Amino acid sequence: MFKKSIIAAIALLVSPLYLQAQNKVPVYLDDSKPMKERVEDALSKMTVEEKIAMIHAQSKFSSAGVSRLGIPDNWMTDGPHGIRPEVLWDEWSQAGWTNDSCTAFPALTALAATWNKEMALLYGKSIGEEARYRNKNVLLGPGVNIYRSPLNGRNFEYMGEDPFLTSKMVVPYIKGVQSNGVATCVKHFALNNQETNRHGVNVVVDDRTLYEIYLPAFKAAVQEGGTWAIMGSYNKYKGQQACHNEYLLNDILKGEWGFEGVVVADWGGAHNTKEAIFNGLDMEFGSWTDGLAWGKSNAYDNYYLAAPYLKMIKSGEVGTKELDEKVRRILRLSFLTTMNRSRPFGSFGTEDHAAAGRKIAEEGIVLLQNKNNILPVNLSTTKKIAVIGENAIKMMTVGGGSSSLKAKYEISPLDGLKKRIGNQAEIVYARGYVGDAKSDYNGVVSGQDLSEKRSAAELMAEALKVAKDADIVIFIGGLNKSDFQDSEGNDRKGLELPYEQDKLVSALAKVNKNIVFVNISGNAVAMPWVNEVPGIVQGWFLGSEAGNALAEVLMGDVNPSGKLTFTFPVKLQDNGAHALGDFPGTEEVIYKEGLFVGYRWVDKQKIKPLFPFGHGLSYTTFEYDKVSADRKEMEASDKITFSVKVKNTGKRAGQEVVQLYITDLKSSLPRPVKELKGFEKISLQPGEEKTVTFTVDKAALSFFDDKKHDWVAEPGKFEAIIGASSANIKGKVGFILK
Ligand code: BGC
Repeated sequence: MFKKSIIAAIALLVSPLYLQAQNKVPVYLDDSKPMKERVEDALSKMTVEEKIAMIHAQSKFSSAGVSRLGIPDNWMTDGPHGIRPEVLWDEWSQAGWTNDSCTAFPALTALAATWNKEMALLYGKSIGEEARYRNKNVLLGPGVNIYRSPLNGRNFEYMGEDPFLTSKMVVPYIKGVQSNGVATCVKHFALNNQETNRHGVNVVVDDRTLYEIYLPAFKAAVQEGGTWAIMGSYNKYKGQQACHNEYLLNDILKGEWGFEGVVVADWGGAHNTKEAIFNGLDMEFGSWTDGLAWGKSNAYDNYYLAAPYLKMIKSGEVGTKELDEKVRRILRLSFLTTMNRSRPFGSFGTEDHAAAGRKIAEEGIVLLQNKNNILPVNLSTTKKIAVIGENAIKMMTVGGGSSSLKAKYEISPLDGLKKRIGNQAEIVYARGYVGDAKSDYNGVVSGQDLSEKRSAAELMAEALKVAKDADIVIFIGGLNKSDFQDSEGNDRKGLELPYEQDKLVSALAKVNKNIVFVNISGNAVAMPWVNEVPGIVQGWFLGSEAGNALAEVLMGDVNPSGKLTFTFPVKLQDNGAHALGDFPGTEEVIYKEGLFVGYRWVDKQKIKPLFPFGHGLSYTTFEYDKVSADRKEMEASDKITFSVKVKNTGKRAGQEVVQLYITDLKSSLPRPVKELKGFEKISLQPGEEKTVTFTVDKAALSFFDDKKHDWVAEPGKFEAIIGASSANIKGKVGFILK
């Protein structure tokens, strides 16, 4: 009997069924199994210590996986414009790698100015490939905070003042990045609209404004883009830090919107263990540690979600329900990224990426003014070109805070022009003024020597002399990435151009009437000399291919098609936040202007801006026909389609951004005069005509009723407005919502 059972046991051990069971892939590693099952299986195999390790940083940019289970670490990288160079494990300084020089893509302000969703997809796909190649599974971007004031130091990292435009542009960006098995971490959620006292300022905003202006892009990122991560912001809301905020994270993001991804704290944005446990934060990064005392052996143990949390669990002060919920989300992130075996391999610093950056830059550049058709430069009649200004030579990919890059190369505007023009005309350069001679940031050295011994008067005299002798003057100035300009950590001090450029531009315009001003910035600037300068171009921060793209537009190889994504006010007081006196707040900032941000404010106050939202010229001309609607009345469940024919009436091919705004003619609550609800970028050959259609439903007619806490489309009369900008209205058609 005994013998028999031994034989039976051996037979069972060598049976194919048993062997199969032994080799069985655990559920969490079986990618044929549903995500939820895999997550629960992995979770069930983890110890409390492993779970705690997963929810906070272990280095500046990484957090632990579970090596015992083959779950890789998570690696984050900035940022929205290119893949950040490697830093030391526990320092911000450079690791000194020689193979981490990336493609610098145009800043997000430039991407948004293309008004082209295909460009956003191309951007996302390309930068995602770079992140993937560098083995990063979370890209810290894109940034979608709304442009409230032209003084916000980080506006250049965002997509302008309009929630609809930002929402439409962020979705393809996310899809492009995530198609690489790399998560986007959309930032900074929410209400991070100033840099002054950014860790402490408490934002006071009414619900309507919150839901109508500041949240839609995040909602679109979650519900339409399907972002796998969101970054909490530094500021407070309702007195609570945004990184562990009951209202923003638990109620809205995870509650109302059903976000299933990971909430990552901005670096140093977590401040309290209990709030971090209970108020929706999933991963803590960048908290300050003293590297001394009990944190000496591993400063990261000091993190709010590290040893202090474990201690609370061990003592029974808190349970593990919240911990499991955080880990579930992080495991899902791992399955979608590092553990997704079918994700592509990525590529880095390639010609394709350079070409993508260049295309986006070309489409983002905005021709603001072109009196007497001064542009494009006519090389058959131009012998001498004076290029003036520090921004013609300054590297702009270095500096500005966390989006600073170590670019593989960066073509300056002057080099771009020289390369394009060759010996077709003489180019004479004069710096004209000294802005910031610094050419390194966080250990990345641009290699440029911008030191200058000459006095301001000498530089000005040289510039005037050079300008006087030239056929055309191209002034390349604006802001830069230094502190108190387009840079993280501080806001600008005023709307005017720095380094006395206004004085120089006016003086130059006096000696040569053929002058073009190229504004390199991510923000609006005042232009008191606007009537003295026939040509004005918004040149943004354009990344590696900056100089090439600018030269192509200035010389006319590319017909400009970018449009402004924010209003350029004549003066600061023409902006709502400034007119009502609340920018920047220190301890508290009250968004007194409410919904009336950007064009919503100038429309309401009937102010003529320097350049309106949606504005941008072309080297060709477009004619708009009458706007029509497919119905006069609609029910709340219906859709309505507006059509307009647009014709290229000029001599060259071009692209036009046709914009649809909706006006609610009568409503129970105050509403903006009009709001963007559609846009389409079309290409037209000379003489060609296309019909552009916009189909909208009640969502385009709705406002957020704070009493009902819901979106409401009130029956009544509406108007659909078609414009070439928010101020250049081409036609209207009325309709009724029954
Ligand atoms: C910035 C984030 C950035 C993070 C990591 C923070 O200072 O606000 O946007 O992603 O640093 O560099």
